[in-house]
Amino acid sequence: MHDDSLPPTIDNPELDSLMLTIKSFLEHLEYTLGKDKYSASRYDIYNALAYAVRDRMVERWLDTQQHYYNSDHKRVYYLSMEFLMGRSLENSLINLGLLDEFKEAVSSLGYDFDELVEDEQEAGLGNGGLGRLAACFLDSMATMAIPAYGYGIRYEYGIFRQKITDGTQVEIPDNWLRYRNPWELDRQEHLHPVKFNGRVVTVHIDGKPRHEWVDTEDVMAMAYDTPIPGYGNNTVNTMRLWCAKSSREFDLKFFNEGNYIRAVEKKMLTENISKVLYPADNVIEGKELRFKQEYFLASATVHDVIYRFKKMHKDLRLLPDKVAIQLNDTHPALAIPELMRVLLDLEGLSWDDAWNVTTRVFAYTNHTILPEALEQWPVWFFEQILPRHLMIIYEINDRFLDEVRRRFPGDNGRLARMSLVEEHWERKIRMAHLAIVGSHSVNGVAALHSEILKNDLFRDFYEMYPERFNNKTNGITQRRWLKKGNPPLSALIDDRIGPGWVTDLYELEKLRPLAEDAEFRADWQKVKRENKERLAAYILKHNCIQVDVDSLFDCQVKRIHEYKRQLLNVLHIITLYNRLKADPSLDIVPRTFIFGGKAAPAYFIAKLVIRLINAVGDVVNRDPDVAGRLKVVFLANYSVSLAEMIFPAADLSEQISTAGTEASGTGNMKFALNGALTIGTLDGANIEIMEEVGRENIFIFGLTAEEVTELKRKGYNPREYYNRNPELQKVLDMVSGGFFSPYDANLFKPIVDSLLNQGDHYLLLADYASYIASQEEVSQLYRDQDEWSRRAILNAAGMGKFSSDRTIAEYARDIWGVDTVEISAQAQHCLHDGVCLVEHRKDEGGS
Ligand code: IMP
Repeated sequence: MHDDSLPPTIDNPELDSLMLTIKSFLEHLEYTLGKDKYSASRYDIYNALAYAVRDRMVERWLDTQQHYYNSDHKRVYYLSMEFLMGRSLENSLINLGLLDEFKEAVSSLGYDFDELVEDEQEAGLGNGGLGRLAACFLDSMATMAIPAYGYGIRYEYGIFRQKITDGTQVEIPDNWLRYRNPWELDRQEHLHPVKFNGRVVTVHIDGKPRHEWVDTEDVMAMAYDTPIPGYGNNTVNTMRLWCAKSSREFDLKFFNEGNYIRAVEKKMLTENISKVLYPADNVIEGKELRFKQEYFLASATVHDVIYRFKKMHKDLRLLPDKVAIQLNDTHPALAIPELMRVLLDLEGLSWDDAWNVTTRVFAYTNHTILPEALEQWPVWFFEQILPRHLMIIYEINDRFLDEVRRRFPGDNGRLARMSLVEEHWERKIRMAHLAIVGSHSVNGVAALHSEILKNDLFRDFYEMYPERFNNKTNGITQRRWLKKGNPPLSALIDDRIGPGWVTDLYELEKLRPLAEDAEFRADWQKVKRENKERLAAYILKHNCIQVDVDSLFDCQVKRIHEYKRQLLNVLHIITLYNRLKADPSLDIVPRTFIFGGKAAPAYFIAKLVIRLINAVGDVVNRDPDVAGRLKVVFLANYSVSLAEMIFPAADLSEQISTAGTEASGTGNMKFALNGALTIGTLDGANIEIMEEVGRENIFIFGLTAEEVTELKRKGYNPREYYNRNPELQKVLDMVSGGFFSPYDANLFKPIVDSLLNQGDHYLLLADYASYIASQEEVSQLYRDQDEWSRRAILNAAGMGKFSSDRTIAEYARDIWGVDTVEISAQAQHCLHDGVCLVEHRKDEGGS
């Protein structure tokens, strides 16, 4: 792929932008990477290109950051243990408006741009929805010119890479930083000591007690910055990720014993803090290392926030005027006692002042009501690792419970329920309670979810602080999930309604009348087919399965979790299979079932479901009676990049969680935006999607959240459904009886046990009949391709609400109280005192 005739040195003073790009690329290849045409690998070419792109961002970045200081606007800090960014190259170029220019530069040098893009290691620093939401928010905040920072951890190993071997998930470490990461800049000057362990001593200064945390073991947090460019503006924000570095001080004990190697070893261990992302989604692991990771993020970030504030201000009581901190779930909630500690112990504020500042700065987003995902840390972790924070949390709790007592005298049950300390069995700190008490805002991520928070999970807190509770329905960035991921559809939409939708997704409303236009529907179908062909080629290459692009692409891609009910989808597949076996001449709508998703490595049933999907595929895909009309495909290593290929190719989006379990979902939005119809329960954001696209344009089935609660209250007996429904019975008997695992008849028995003998916690059997009936309707509609595409267009047209731009605008207005800050095209960034560069950027028409 390497062209022998690299252009000669360029010394023409009249270089236009394209030649500058080529020059920048070649210079990075030579000077940054030390390569020439003989030694440059494909990866070097990618890196040289990435550096050339980064250069174009850096000027705007400096301008933006300087402007934030000079104008002294309020800043937003989005704290998240996960940022699932995906690849940066093409996305950055799109946002900078440089995609065409760079493509031309690359091709003039004899390289294939699309191939180079694939060489980028994906930044997979997240598990699923929560981490990807953080990434979408960064894009929206930059695009909307909000002075914002993402703060997280620079894990050396991101989410594991999934391989499927003999139908089973195998986890491969994601050593994504093995080579270099051209998008980050290390900031050695931003190095904060983060303390652990030690003990607290109380000294008296001017007769007042002051607490000092001493004899600590310190780990250094070093900043790595990644620029986050806005779309079509000059804003470039920052994602700052912390990396653990050992401090210089040696453990004197080992040192004095002359055990130098042991002392160094101990230092090295401290760097483990930022080594690996915990791979469980929607469940806590409760490990000490994870606890330390959470504090590491919280502490380093709080210190950075204060450092930045203090550059311009002295009085920390003014912090809430300049700083808003959003907690992405409770994972970074230790920032609350950390800020208290800094204000009390280091800055000398009174408790009342410190608490006033803290509660006005913090806001908390809840992402789940699943009990296994609600964080509670053992008190003994605090005693050993964060003793001063435990004192502060106890003090917060004492004062809070006094307040509860005043408001609800004599209600001891309420006190126990609301306490920050769980007293049963092992004493634990309830992180959600800490987050609610320490924040001025608590939000859920879809209307239904926020109602459940108020009426159920956090009911006591809602009764106490009703004004704190609000809803912010999640969204997705259309820049990545339509413009980048689906170029043919973007081009079609641009052609008919113009490009306004890229920054105002409500513009898609203009597609509504076009749903009635036969020519537009035909074009729409052509685009869908093109995308299906692309995915079919991928499936053939990676799974060696030939799929029919005229079949209905029925997709369920998301983490594998019992509550998301991939198993219900499998029960449907087996049902169809049985119908075909009973009557091979049955006229059914051919379907390709596409699954993707990772299971937490320790999640036994989820991993077994992956095996079952593959085992069912092995039977169905080969059966001559099926004659290719059903195909089952499990795509390994579901990731942002793979998602970008799947959504555009999907006909049907499976959003089938038990009502009341999925907080929002965002995959549901990505599918609909790319012209898929949804089959779903009335759960999470599905409900709002239904409201936007119209009840007649979505397939809704199953129990509502209220009905689920009621059924469980009355006593749910899955066996009743099993006994009543012969089709269901047959399906389950096949799974438990070894039909799909002839070599190991009992292999899938635990799955059926979980349904029949362990209570079917997620009510698959209760929803089965309704699901099957709804799938019948799907098939009937698919026979009418024209009507199908009409509805698909109406779905896309109704997606305006689900832009993360809308979500962020609501956060900014209702919670953060921040303004947008336009960065001018003719910016002036200062290099040294008295030395400023005045930029005249060609692409923005600066003069
Ligand atoms: P940080 O806020 O210290 O992380 O710095 C980020 C960027 O902001 C720096 O690279 C500078 O471009 C800019 N910056 C930092 N301090 C100042 C200041 O005091 N005035 C104006 N710009 C600043």
